Amino acid sequence: MSETLYGGTSARRITIRDLANAKLAGDRWPMLTAYDFSTARVFDEAGVPVLLVGDSAANVVYGYDTTVPVTVDELLPLVRGVVRGAKRALVVADLPFGSYQASPEQALDTATRFMKEGGAQAVKLEGGARVAPQVELLTSAGIPVMAHIGLTPQSVNTMSGYRVQGRGDEAGQRLLEDAHALQDAGAFAVVMEVVPSDLAKKVTHELHIPTIGIGAGVECDAQVLVWQDMAGLRGEGKPAKFVKQYADVSAVLTEAVRQFASEVQAGTYPGAEHSYH
Ligand code: KIV
Repeated sequence: MSETLYGGTSARRITIRDLANAKLAGDRWPMLTAYDFSTARVFDEAGVPVLLVGDSAANVVYGYDTTVPVTVDELLPLVRGVVRGAKRALVVADLPFGSYQASPEQALDTATRFMKEGGAQAVKLEGGARVAPQVELLTSAGIPVMAHIGLTPQSVNTMSGYRVQGRGDEAGQRLLEDAHALQDAGAFAVVMEVVPSDLAKKVTHELHIPTIGIGAGVECDAQVLVWQDMAGLRGEGKPAKFVKQYADVSAVLTEAVRQFASEVQAGTYPGAEHSYH
């Protein structure tokens, strides 16, 4: 029987075996993205068992419009920071667009960098049965792989935008087959992004590995959100339907900045207690 994953008492790092046991025990868990030491430490201390250094860093760290441009060299330092900040959480590094699609060997080279140079404990890559050979080679080389199906943002150009995936019998069957192919190739978990809840429920019940939903309904074994979406620190534009905002960090920061600025202007900061004598 597994110990509860979220906020568990064990101080050791979460493993993919813990995640497998959580599925058997029916224990749901949260996953969050993280991109730096300070937030990774907060999320880790809050008990989040899995942190993803997502290629969504392209948007929320680097300000690109899509995840397509972000590179391995841009993501690697972020992974290092998160790994230093997280003592208990399993840290998963996202393989960016163009760093694994060409061949299983290319995927192995990239994933090896994230494990050796970044210190990640697992990697994630996007795609269905087409990337099963990549998943198989990485897994056999000792690299745990989280798969990602449904809306795969790296394919925004072939999908012609960000839309619900797997709708209708044929598309639903294809997604189910992709999920099985990835599980058979050795993936330890699969992210399902923006797919109908009924389909996500079916995949979750058929697979023995955990499913992690983002816009895939409540029946998934786990849920993931980009932390800036969840905490209200995202730039302009309407958030996706699946986003629930649990805080307004943007408003808190704005207020703090304004107060700091006004105290500097008024000459009331620094006070005696913040000065050296
Ligand atoms: O890059 C990312 O943040 C992701 C999650 C949204 C699953 O892939």
